[in-house]
Amino acid sequence: MLIKEKLPPLFNFDALPEPTYTGNGLTDQDVISVSQFDTERLDYIFSRAGEMRELVERVGSTDLLRGRVLACLFYEPSTRTSASFISAMERLGGGVIPITQGVQFSSVSKGETLADTIRTLEQFSDVIVLRHPTVGSAQVAADYAAIPVINAGDGPGEHPTQALLDLFTIKEELGRINGLKIAMVGDLRYGRTVHSLTRLLTQYDVSLRFVSPEILRLPLTIMNQVIDAGIDVRETHDVADVIKNADVLYVTRVQKERFTDLAQYEEVKNHYEITPELMAIAKQDMVVMHPLPRVGEIHYAVDDDPRAAYFRQVRNGMYIRMALLAAVLGKA
Ligand code: CP
Repeated sequence: MLIKEKLPPLFNFDALPEPTYTGNGLTDQDVISVSQFDTERLDYIFSRAGEMRELVERVGSTDLLRGRVLACLFYEPSTRTSASFISAMERLGGGVIPITQGVQFSSVSKGETLADTIRTLEQFSDVIVLRHPTVGSAQVAADYAAIPVINAGDGPGEHPTQALLDLFTIKEELGRINGLKIAMVGDLRYGRTVHSLTRLLTQYDVSLRFVSPEILRLPLTIMNQVIDAGIDVRETHDVADVIKNADVLYVTRVQKERFTDLAQYEEVKNHYEITPELMAIAKQDMVVMHPLPRVGEIHYAVDDDPRAAYFRQVRNGMYIRMALLAAVLGKA
């Protein structure tokens, strides 16, 4: 006799509770400064960025942020930060309002304030990425916006997402951060990427070497943070002093746009150039990084050296920004 088995009821997926994502405390948060990132949060973002890399390499894109919109508002020129945020959002299935090719084509040219522009864009979007020439502008925008604001560079202040991708690159290239000797070269006074990266590095057991002309030394407030953190630190004017022992050579452009006296810029603009001859005295496993754009600080002949990591660094920016957008929008 055939015994009819009682089948279990079909699984009802609709009855599952909506998953809750915490984004490790980043959900719905603004990203204004690297001071928001302790090592636990950094590990979290780096781990998610690694997953984003895998995802992009395997399938290119996903629909994690389908229906979400990013407003990209840039009052200063950009290639990497704007393009990587746009690419990050699109690879996650979201949409973008790109105001990146010169705000002169937006109502800013009619005299609209930052506050009104932000309050307008938040009507159409879920997150705003802002680059602005004034230190503190990202915080001002965040104070007006009810949606998250991500700082993509506020004058010579901070560039937190660049620092995240820089640190991620160091970890990817060398497998660790603790124990490394890191030399920063160039415009340490105005280079916001240096400011943000240095602040992040104070959380690690590293040695720091700062190489700059006298007038472009690291601001005292940041140097004091380095000293207070107990970091082994030295300043010099000469790259040759540090390159032999460095694990990371982080080179930066002299920021012409921040000088009030262009004669002073002319004096220091070509102070450093990393050449194959200099690379010959560096460690075989040293990495050369640069936030880019470069205007002569690294000779093109260095590009074929496997230690030149600056274009891998650019790509890492997309993975970091994918991880950050997902976290901020609650899809970690
Ligand atoms: N590194 C960086 O901020 O580059 P862009 O100015 O091209 O965005």
